[in-house]
Parts: sequence; structure tokens; C-alpha cells
Amino acid sequence: MASQYTPRVFSGIQPSGGLTLGNYLGAMKRFVDMQNTGDFETVYCMVDLHAITVWQDPQALSRNTRELCAGFIASGIDPEKSILFNQSQVPEHAQLGWVFNCVARMGWMQRMTQWKDKAGKNSQNASLGLFGYPSLMAADILIYHATHVPVGEDQKQHLELTRDIAIKFNNDYGVDFFPVTEPVIEGAATRVMSLRDGSKKMSKSDPSDMSRINLTDDADAIAKKIKKAKTDPEALPSDVDGLADRPEARNLVNIYAALADSTPEAVLAEFGGQQFGAFKPALGDLAVSKLAPISAEMSRLMDDPAEIDKILRRGAERGREIAAPILAKTYEIIGMVR
Ligand code: TRP
Repeated sequence: MASQYTPRVFSGIQPSGGLTLGNYLGAMKRFVDMQNTGDFETVYCMVDLHAITVWQDPQALSRNTRELCAGFIASGIDPEKSILFNQSQVPEHAQLGWVFNCVARMGWMQRMTQWKDKAGKNSQNASLGLFGYPSLMAADILIYHATHVPVGEDQKQHLELTRDIAIKFNNDYGVDFFPVTEPVIEGAATRVMSLRDGSKKMSKSDPSDMSRINLTDDADAIAKKIKKAKTDPEALPSDVDGLADRPEARNLVNIYAALADSTPEAVLAEFGGQQFGAFKPALGDLAVSKLAPISAEMSRLMDDPAEIDKILRRGAERGREIAAPILAKTYEIIGMVR
């Protein structure tokens, strides 16, 4: 049966500062690939309303939003092909989010592992917004009737909740209005680990800057961090099974494969049997050739914030063209007098 929904991708990233290679390979590069298949309409959002569920310094929030926009564009998001904007400029997200606050149940929210992790022991002091975070996330997705949502493994539970909200809304009101969304979860190969500890995710909040490659790092910094990356004394294995107990080796091979649009198997077919002394310079050159142009383009874009703001405003206008009729229909279904 043909779907009643336009194939449409939605994803969001919080403008909370500090983009890393992990964001690039795990999110942005995949967003660009989905944009370029031409199989979908692609909608990419800087979720500033989500960011403020924990404290954000106002100036930093503005700067981080513009920097994230620059990062998207420098990574290959074309603001003509994709709809690129910040969430607060499309008020329908918050409006549908409120409706979903009335659909979702307290118990559903309480089960969210990210809520439990982020609120920690002091949950009485967490913001109400942090508790309702997943309901706003469901609204982000469903206000576009998005059918595909590329996210990391850590967002899987939130997407299941999005499905639960869509199903409950459809059931409660006896309609077939919101789609049941497909998660597009990243593979293990795009999960980028710390350069200092292959068992930890690469993170902007790691105290050691050597543990990560920032999208703003220049060529020298990138080369140095790859050179200093932790490894083990063995040569590279000739197949992926040989990486099983070697998290650092596996991470570097995965990074190489992802940057080269290749596979770990193909990388090991080429480098298997070689020492890190040979592999690291090759990885360093590859990383510099792929990432240095991105950081250069980001800093060029950041020199013209007015241009970035214009792109975001235009993206928001295009977003509203899709979102406004879906909100209007939602209100009609609920019985809001218009
Ligand atoms: N929660 C997501 C994250 O932290 C960000 C996000 C907000 C999102 N809304 C979304 C991702 C909608 C996908 C779809 O990574």
C-alpha cells in the first residue's frame, strides 16, 4: 500500500556548543548523505528550545546556534535543498509539544533513561522542561509528519516514545493522522570513541581536548591529535574479528572507514599487518583532507553572522509552510474553535 506520507527526514541537534568528529560522522555526514540521495525531503533543526531544558548562557546560546548552522553548511547541508533552521523560529513545535504534553503520560516520561541520567538524584530540582523533553522531541518530528529520523543509539527510546504518542493520539481521536516514524539508527562504525580511551564515547565535555577532534580544529591540531591517539603495540589485524578486544584500534579503523566512505573490512584489507606507525600518518592525512576544509568554511561563515541569520529565517519560513497546516489540522481534530 502506498504511504499517505511524503518521505521526509527530520533530525535535530542541540546548539549547546562544541561540535566534534562524533557529531560529524554520527549525524551531519549522514544528514548530508540523506539530503543527497534525493529520496526524501530533508528537514534539519537546531533545537534551541531543547537546549534550554538545562541552563544556557544567552550569549553562548546565540553563538552556538550560529556555529551549529555554520557546521551544518560547512559539512555539506545545502540550505536550498534541505530546510535548515532553529526550532524557536517555528512556533508550531512548541504548540504541538503542548498538545503532546497532554497525550503523553507521566509514567512514560519517568521511564526515559535519559531523564533518569540527566536529572540524577536531584530530580526535584530539574526543570519541568527537561522532564517533558521527549514530548517536545515527538512534536519536532510529527509536526512535519516525518517518516524517517536519523539519530544515535541513545535516542532510540525517545523515538519509541514518539511512536507511542502518535499511536495514542490517533487512537484517542479516532484518526489516522500522525505517522508511525521509522528510526534510522547509526551503525557501530559511526560511533566515534575517545582518542584517549576507546571504551568511552568521544565527547565535547571530556576534560582532555586530546580525546576529541573538534570541528573547529585546524589542520595542525587534527594531525597532532591523530598522531598522539592511544593505540596498542600490535600490528593491525587483517580482518574485523581481530579488532574485537582492541577498542582503540577499532576506533581508528572505524574513523578511517567513515571518513573514506569505505568499510572497516576494506580498510583492513589495505592496512592489515601494518603497524600504527604506518597507519596513523595515513589516517592523519585523510582526516586533515576531509576536516580542515570544514573548519575553514565554518570560520568563514562565522565572520558573517547576518548571513547565517538570514539563512535560518528563510529555513524557518519554509518549515512553517509544512508545520502550520499540520498544527491547524491537529487543532481541528481536537476540537479547538478556530
Ligand atoms: N534529543 C536529540 C539529541 O540530543 C536532539 C533532538 C531534538 C532530536 N529533537 C529531535 C533528534 C528530533 C531527532 C529528532 O540528540
